[in-house]
Amino acid sequence: MYGGGYIFDEPDRRQAAEENDHDQPARLGEFEAKIAAGEKIEPGDWMPSEYRRQLIRLIEQHAHSEVVGALPEGTWITRAPGFRRKMALIAKVQDEIGHGQLLYHAAETLGKTRQEMTADLLSGKSKYSNVFNYPAETWADVTVIGFLIDAAAIVNQLANSKGSYGPYCRALERICYEESFHLKQGQDAFVELASGTPMQRGMLQDALNRWWPPIMQFFGPPDKISAHSARLMQWKVKMASNDEMRNQFLDTYVPKVFELGMTLPDPLLAKDPVTGRWKYTEPDWNLFFRVIGGDGPCNRERIAVRSWAEEHGAWVRKALKVTSGMPSLPIA
Ligand code: COA
Repeated sequence: MYGGGYIFDEPDRRQAAEENDHDQPARLGEFEAKIAAGEKIEPGDWMPSEYRRQLIRLIEQHAHSEVVGALPEGTWITRAPGFRRKMALIAKVQDEIGHGQLLYHAAETLGKTRQEMTADLLSGKSKYSNVFNYPAETWADVTVIGFLIDAAAIVNQLANSKGSYGPYCRALERICYEESFHLKQGQDAFVELASGTPMQRGMLQDALNRWWPPIMQFFGPPDKISAHSARLMQWKVKMASNDEMRNQFLDTYVPKVFELGMTLPDPLLAKDPVTGRWKYTEPDWNLFFRVIGGDGPCNRERIAVRSWAEEHGAWVRKALKVTSGMPSLPIA
């Protein structure tokens, strides 16, 4: 379905009327009461401008992550070992681009156009997930992405799907179904390498060692320095804090890695039996901020590929726009 503003629609600019939230305490009260009662906020509803701004930031970043995230895996379609793995990877990459499309549409309902989002990605103004700024050097890297990064994404998305903004939650419900398939294929490839030859296990261990720090950073900085968590949790955009999601991920997936005889490169990693919380070495958060700020190993390459695609796809968008303005042909 072509529902988005990218090709056909004019941007929705309804936010202009609500910029002065402070002048509207009654509406703010109603809005917060609705959220507290577990009701969804829909695009036509009044919302504080900060809620709108935060949602656009978060959903847009999520959409960019889906599309940019397909790039490192996409380069492995021709090299995936065997027909079955190639088929699964093609389907996964296609799904990820579809997730981007769903999320861009959800962000468009808040008034930012697809063109604006694309321009902000290409200029470096909008972020995307830190993990997609690292290279997928071997098949084991793709395997670790397919298992552990998809697992991390599910933990995050399942939490966010219970949130307050209707279009984002509905998009996430569908995305989570597809991500569970991705996770299964990632886990299957992971188990295959982990139970393979010493060379396959060595390759997998090497990938795990390289990917572990960025995976630990995937859920965002620790709660005590997270800039947006408090406000986003108050408005039920985020349903769990960064540290809570990280802990949930460790709880479910570290045992699955260990039971295959693989290790993780953190001597402190262990569950505290009293608190039930995982202890770990804090990843290098200065490095994280540098990477998401544009200075990671692959940032320039990722943006260059998106830029190329944008430029070379311009004629398709133009053609679709022209075609959509034509009268439809009579049937028969
Ligand atoms: N990758 C890139 N940037 C990240 C990040 C990550 N893994 N985690 C946090 N950040 C950025 C935030 O965008 C923010 O930067 P900004 O103020 O310039 O926008 C900054 O780090 C501070 O982090 P925090 O206040 O904790 O951000 P947050 O409340 O938005 O929480 C997420 C971070 C990832 C948990 C949240 O954005 C989220 O749930 N996003 C939707 C899911 C998603 O994008 N998944 C990615 C791929 S599947």
